[in-house]
Amino acid sequence: TKAHKGGYKHFMAKEIAEQPVVIAETIRCYLPSGGDMIDLKEADLDFSKVSRLTMVGCGTAYYACLTAKYWFEQLARLPVEIDVASEFRYREPPLPEGSLALFVSQSGETADTLAALRYCRGKADHILSVINAAESTMARESDIALPIHAGAEIGVASTKAFTCQLVVLLILALKAAADRGTMSAAQIAEHVAALRSLPGAVNSALEQSEAIRRVARHLSEASDVLFLGRGLMYPLALEGALKLKEISYIHAEGYASGELKHGPIALVDTDLPIVVLAPSDGLFDKTMSNMQEVIARKARVLLITDEAGVAAAGGDVWSTIAMPAIHPALAPILYAIPAQLLAYHTAVAKGTDVDQPRNLAKSVTVE
Ligand code: AGP
Repeated sequence: TKAHKGGYKHFMAKEIAEQPVVIAETIRCYLPSGGDMIDLKEADLDFSKVSRLTMVGCGTAYYACLTAKYWFEQLARLPVEIDVASEFRYREPPLPEGSLALFVSQSGETADTLAALRYCRGKADHILSVINAAESTMARESDIALPIHAGAEIGVASTKAFTCQLVVLLILALKAAADRGTMSAAQIAEHVAALRSLPGAVNSALEQSEAIRRVARHLSEASDVLFLGRGLMYPLALEGALKLKEISYIHAEGYASGELKHGPIALVDTDLPIVVLAPSDGLFDKTMSNMQEVIARKARVLLITDEAGVAAAGGDVWSTIAMPAIHPALAPILYAIPAQLLAYHTAVAKGTDVDQPRNLAKSVTVE
């Protein structure tokens, strides 16, 4: 059946707006009420026997892997290696005993990711994939395929697949923490409760669309944009920059806030808008001090934070977007929404082809 835009101007807008519903569905599938958290026993996967997790993907899927690295390391104390598939497959990485290889892909058909999966066959103890297309080649060739239940994604820029990938990866990290005894039952229950409130928070985030559209009008005149984030917001800074590049053709870079003074601060002037992603978590003060460094050099800062963050940031920021307060572990999923909306409205303001950006294919099935 042919996909419809359902009243939206673009598939991307529709897919951004669908996120409260599809995220709720993903959560329902992996955390059935009253049921057990994701059961992998059938597949004979016990995270207490895993010595290292290797995660591979391309583009946005790779940024999902980078986000999940923080979760698996912090929550489950599991060593994690990640790489983009095109590098991984040719660098002949050794996979030590007890390796679990995990591939993330919306399409399940990306040539480099599939080749990386095949490289791991016979070398890793288990091959897992987190995919949207349940009937894909990667799903078939994995020991365990975990579908993200996002529904068909038509827009070339990945949106709802990213947030649903993150939901599945976070639940998997919680499962790993349970197997490895690194979190108490109460701590896991706290994260699960936070996940259950996520669709509502995503809904509130979508209500900022109009405010983001107003800022995007200014952003559409920039030739370069810098995205900054720390900790779990660092992968999202990279993803926000990728989204903007893909559909608005504005050059954008994501940077770890702490890396600023190791180079990119030389670029900072009035013509370089800087998007700072900073929920008021344990790293907030550090990110704020980086933000003050660029404000002192006259940069225009768009701060994406929560109410407490807006209050703490002071008056020198050019513009702020407030997200609802959220459990810090879930912030990358929630803050993906304003990053997507910012790219979307900027592209619309520029008049580019949002759903079919030049030179790009939805699924890259050749090297
Ligand atoms: C995302 O907006 C991109 N269009 C692209 O980076 C994409 O995520 C990448 O090509 C991977 O695709 P996959 O998830 O289908 O493997």
